Amino acid sequence: MTERCDLLITNVHAATMDPSIAGGYGAVEDAAVAVTGGKIVWLGPRKELPDCAPDATLDGEGQWLTPGLIDCHTHLVYGGHRASEFARRLGGESYEEVARSGGGILSTVRATRAASAEQLYRAAEPRLQALMSEGATTIEVKSGYGLDLDTELKQLRTARRLAQHHPVAITTTCLAAHALPPEYDGRPDEYIDLVCEEILPAVAKEQLADAVDMFCESIAFSVEQCQRVIDCAQKLDLPVKVHAEQLARTGATAMAARSSALSVDHIEYITDADVAAMAESGTVAVLLPGAFYTLRETQMPPIDKLRASGVCMALSTDLNPGSCPIASLRLMMNMGCNLFGLTPAEALAGVTRSAARALGLCCSRGVLRPGLRADMVLWPMETPDQLAYEVGALKPAQIFFAGRTVGG
Ligand code: NIG
Ligand code: FE
Repeated sequence: MTERCDLLITNVHAATMDPSIAGGYGAVEDAAVAVTGGKIVWLGPRKELPDCAPDATLDGEGQWLTPGLIDCHTHLVYGGHRASEFARRLGGESYEEVARSGGGILSTVRATRAASAEQLYRAAEPRLQALMSEGATTIEVKSGYGLDLDTELKQLRTARRLAQHHPVAITTTCLAAHALPPEYDGRPDEYIDLVCEEILPAVAKEQLADAVDMFCESIAFSVEQCQRVIDCAQKLDLPVKVHAEQLARTGATAMAARSSALSVDHIEYITDADVAAMAESGTVAVLLPGAFYTLRETQMPPIDKLRASGVCMALSTDLNPGSCPIASLRLMMNMGCNLFGLTPAEALAGVTRSAARALGLCCSRGVLRPGLRADMVLWPMETPDQLAYEVGALKPAQIFFAGRTVGG
């Protein structure tokens, strides 16, 4: 019997990113890909394609198909901007100095509290569109510029609303433990009470967050305070992620690994023991070279050790108004290679397969494989190494979101 399918793509090379296929890209050259009901139903060498009756066909013209890109760490819903802080930092002030003088995250908190839901939506939309135009089909969005119940809810609802009006999957993360709001000055434990007793339960009740994050750093919250947030999230059945060891070693990574966190993000200052703990717990390392670059950090995350220990390395923009106002996942791939020494194949895995894992979504996306979502990008390139190598001119020829052409 001839199988029907919605779409059949032929004359295409697939960088499947499937680790069970040899080579860093899991490449299948001269492939065919069949899609039905928004999912991949067949993928393999074209000459092995079984008889099939497609409703539509696409000639891939010898181009490369990759999984849709996944940006697993962004703060793209916020009010205002911090251009004046950029100038201060260029003048020699550090990120921490700016934060301690009431600027930094708290300056964005003031602007986000003052913005209406509509203004937040309008400000976030171009950032979202910039990521989507480069082939991002799943994007994580954090709150954390509200630091009170109403504004945290406003940010998360804005993220959900963006997903309703754009062909992209958005996962949301509540980052209420991002900074101490001014009204709780000197009372951080009481603010953590508010996070655990009011904000997270309300967010969970409205199903507004898919995960919970926290900023564990001397300018934010201690390991003990973050552990309380983790315990609360886990009682609410929400997975956790941690902004860890960005500015100094705090013990956040060890705590996150003990708590089976999905990911630890930044991790410039982790130790060998932290790497071992991550390898043991399967916690993903989310590398954020754009924040490293913007803050002119010199301490590198220990890439060689992470690689040698088999820790899964994801790569993300960290798109935010302070440490990375850069809405380009492709630039992050290039920075991941040039600044952190990733291979181009590791960079692509970092924004596909490993990013899916950092979001707890590796059962549905991140790899081109039958049974997974047909979120895919067709690129006019001769080798997938070009994705990390070139910035600016190489654009998607076509973007598929759940099998539907949505851009390119
Ligand atoms: O991931 N580190 C904390 N949060 C963001 C920066 C937020 C900001 O500066 O507004 C980050 O770098
Ligand atoms: Fe961040």
